[in-house]
Amino acid sequence: MLNFADKLQNSFFKTISKVCYTSNVKAFVIGGFVRDLIIARPSKDVDIVVVGSGIKVARKVADEMGSGTSVKYFKNFGTAMIRSGDWIIEFVGARKESYRSHSRKPIVEDGSLSDDQNRRDFTINAMSLSLQKNTFGDLLDPFNGVDDIKNGIIRTPLDPDITFSDDPLRMLRAIRFATQLNFKIDPDTLDAITRNRKRITIVSMERVVDELNLIIMSPIPSIGFKLLDETGLLEIIFPKFADLKGVEVINHQAHKDNFYHTLQVLDNLSEKSDELWLRWAAILHDIAKPVTKRYSPKTGWTFHGHEFIGSKMVPGIFKKLKLPLNEKMRYVQKMVQLHLRPIVLAQEIVTDSAIRRLLFDAGDDIDDLMMLCDADITSKNEERVRKYLNNFQLVRRKLKEVEEKDNLRNWQPPITGEIIMETFGLSPSKTVGDIKVAIREAILDGEIDNSYKEAYSYMLERGKEKKLRVVKIIEDPNLNISENNK
Ligand code: CTP
Repeated sequence: MLNFADKLQNSFFKTISKVCYTSNVKAFVIGGFVRDLIIARPSKDVDIVVVGSGIKVARKVADEMGSGTSVKYFKNFGTAMIRSGDWIIEFVGARKESYRSHSRKPIVEDGSLSDDQNRRDFTINAMSLSLQKNTFGDLLDPFNGVDDIKNGIIRTPLDPDITFSDDPLRMLRAIRFATQLNFKIDPDTLDAITRNRKRITIVSMERVVDELNLIIMSPIPSIGFKLLDETGLLEIIFPKFADLKGVEVINHQAHKDNFYHTLQVLDNLSEKSDELWLRWAAILHDIAKPVTKRYSPKTGWTFHGHEFIGSKMVPGIFKKLKLPLNEKMRYVQKMVQLHLRPIVLAQEIVTDSAIRRLLFDAGDDIDDLMMLCDADITSKNEERVRKYLNNFQLVRRKLKEVEEKDNLRNWQPPITGEIIMETFGLSPSKTVGDIKVAIREAILDGEIDNSYKEAYSYMLERGKEKKLRVVKIIEDPNLNISENNK
């Protein structure tokens, strides 16, 4: 019998043990905490299952623990939660009824410890540690979870068809754990996921996406997406992504499989960044390739405009997946729209004005964009990859130079619409907009310096061309401030 008493050092484990002894009930640590302890993945979320009332035990434990402890009761669910420092300890009575996390009102029927272990999702999540005085720390592992951890296997404790129909979200949890831990899903369990895949539709999209985001945030997210594809779940929860699959051949010319390419980009990027939304940008960067795909005998396969169409597809996809429709979404749109720009630049002679434009369009997100573009170079031809990466270095160097010189991140042209209107006595109109854009373009093209003085004279010239009369000369409004600061 394995014993983990030495891992239950925190004093609250002893307090629970004592309370249970005096109240004559049994309690066990169960689930994710035990799994993570054996994997040596530190966790501060502890689930305690009590054979009897979880709430009663929690109340006594909280009293004993005293100051620095907060406790909340969820009477409808028969659970309680204690917070102590950064530990979260949840108490629940052992249940016999199958787990019904999708139903608002779970039917709770008291059960024994083994009833409770039977209704858990995976063997690695069904292990428990005794908190009884004389067996403190003993591991109770009825389904050989320890062996499954050793062998890297995700498997349901009961017939997988039962476990998954109890809570279809577990199909995604299986794939999520396999991805986070780099485990394999047992073949019978995997077959059951494929068989039961349509049941995922009864789970709310919010819960589905929580799991999807955990897959995306794993070290090698492609593991999860390949499993989602293999089981047919991807087609159901995220069909636009599944559409990227496949290779078409005309006249012996094939394009690459954009699904596997995208997964490669996502894995490459995940080595460098753990930003969720940048990872989403990687997932969506080529999403419009299927709808923009054309073949012509002269040019072969093309995907013209897929970056623009793709960025337009982002809101629809976010809405379906219940992802936030806020600045996170706009960031992903921007990344998708700009994802080809640095690559195009790297193929040309890099001019200052092209760099200025890129800085202007990308703003503070330029570093993320460059990271995405690096990850997007997935050619099998090593020579080509090297060439691209070298050119990229050049683009980066130039970006730095131009940035230091012109300070173009979050840049606003020095002449505002108000200044144009006051100078020429105009009210808001297309003319004002045209002049404003002309000034911005002239600065970005390097025709004039990024200074008020040069921009103002450029504006006066444009005004003259348009036969506008100057009614007032406006001084640089920042001049006084900067003079004072000197
Ligand atoms: N559980 C389950 N079926 C579910 C969700 C949870 O059987 N659909 C059980 C598992 O025994 C699990 C425990 O409840 O270990 C706690 O669930 P949860 O806190 O969601 O996950 P953890 O396993 O702790 O893992 P993580 O913290 O990584 O989500």
